This record gives sequence, C-alpha cells and structure tokens, in this order.
Amino acid sequence: MKLTAQSVKKDFPRASKSSNYFTAVQTLDFALESGKMVEITGRSGSGKSTLLNMLAGMLTPTSGKVFLDDTDLYALDEKSLARLRNEKIGLIPQGHTALLSLTVLENVLLPAILYNRQNPPVDRAKALLMDVGLEALMTAKPNELSGGELRRMAIARAMLMRPSILLADEPTAGLDNENTLAVLGLLRKAADEGAGVLLVTHENEAAQFADEVYVMDSGKLSTQ
Ligand SMILES: Nc1ncnc2c1ncn2[C@@H]1O[C@H](COP(=O)(O)OP(=O)(O)O)[C@@H](O)[C@H]1O
Ligand SMILES: [Mg+2]
Repeated sequence: MKLTAQSVKKDFPRASKSSNYFTAVQTLDFALESGKMVEITGRSGSGKSTLLNMLAGMLTPTSGKVFLDDTDLYALDEKSLARLRNEKIGLIPQGHTALLSLTVLENVLLPAILYNRQNPPVDRAKALLMDVGLEALMTAKPNELSGGELRRMAIARAMLMRPSILLADEPTAGLDNENTLAVLGLLRKAADEGAGVLLVTHENEAAQFADEVYVMDSGKLSTQ
C-alpha cells in the first residue's frame, strides 16, 4: 500500500499584522510505501505533527489531498474514514494515550473492541505484548508502567489490526537510550515485515534505522 499526500497545506487561524492565519504546513508532496521507514526530524513547532495528523486521516488539509492507494481519505464520510483508519493506519500519537481503567492487554485490544468484534484477537494481542517485552505486565494497569513500557504498549496497540501504515509521532520522547533503541527497533521490524512506517523524532539515533530522512523547517520539507 501507499500513502500519498498531494499538495497538502494546513493553515490555522492566528491573527498577526499581515494575516489572520498561520501556515503550519506549506504546500508539499509526500509519499510513504510499504516496507519503508521514513523519518521526519526538525525543531519543535515546524509542522511535523500537523503533517502526520493529516496523513493519519485525523486533520483535514486546508488544501490538497491524501490518498491511501486510490482512496481519497477526506472524500470519505466520517464513518468510512474511521473504519479505514482503524483497519489500515496504526497511529502512535504524541504523548500518552493509555486508558487508565483498562489493563495493558485491554488497552492493546482497544482498536478491535471499538468495532464490536465478536472475537477480539486476544492471541495476537498477547503475541504483540511478548514482542515488545511486556508479557509480564499484561494484567497490570497503565499507571504501573514506566514511560518506556507505555510507549511499547502504544506500539503493540497500533500494530494490533496489522495496519499497512504505521505513523509514530515522537514515540521515543523522554525515553532512556535502551528503551529508545528498543522502540526504534520495533518500528524497523514493522517496516521489514511490510508496513510503511513514518517516524517523527528528534532522536539522532533514529537515522540509522530509516530508509529516508527528511527535515521539516517552518512547514517546509527537505531531504537531509
Ligand atoms: N490546532 C491548532 N491550532 C492552532 N495552531 C496549531 C494547531 N496545531 C498546531 N498549531 C501550530 O502549528 C505549528 C506547528 O505545530 P506542530 O505541527 O505541532 O509542530 P511540531 O510537531 O513540529 O512540533 C505550531 O506553531 C503550532 O502552534
Ligand atoms: Mg509534534
């Protein structure tokens, strides 16, 4: 599968002397293919999360389009888009997104439970938790987990539905070196197993894991 952004741009309302909006992402093209890991780096506020959220089907571009293969994401009705996102796009959002009242295993199963699956894929969830080294914490609650463990849980959840596309927004923020390398290794493995992986990060170590590295600066994307 291929995720393609065609001439996407994002303005946010923000009054200044010269205009009443602020362009967070300047008109740009971007593509992410199966089996590839692409890194976007750049300083805080440069538009990385805005671009990632548009690619994720979570934020409508001001202009331009986002395609998953031939499907124009923002031409879909809300329900179809939600379904497509859930099935095809694994999202690891910036910050923590654990539901504190659920166990680690239930948190990982959430994408399946949300769609009322008759048979939630418990075996797959357990296998993923094993892959990310959390098998001993399956029945724990998120508040018993460290920052690194929560990130690894978020990765397991994003991979539950076997998404073709994995979008990770600063998944290693605040992690020590060992956990950073573990998380980057898991994302690389997902790409090697066929997913298209986008990694937004400040981490210097990340470049050695990626097939392509881009830098975002003031809403513009360039190759490093
Ligand atoms: N929902 C929003 N409303 C208004 N401005 C926003 C919104 N989201 C992001 N921005 C602005 O857009 C710019 C880019 O933000 P972001 O994409 O989060 O950058 P990064 O992820 O590179 O740190 C910032 O100046 C931010 O303040
Ligand atoms: Mg960000």
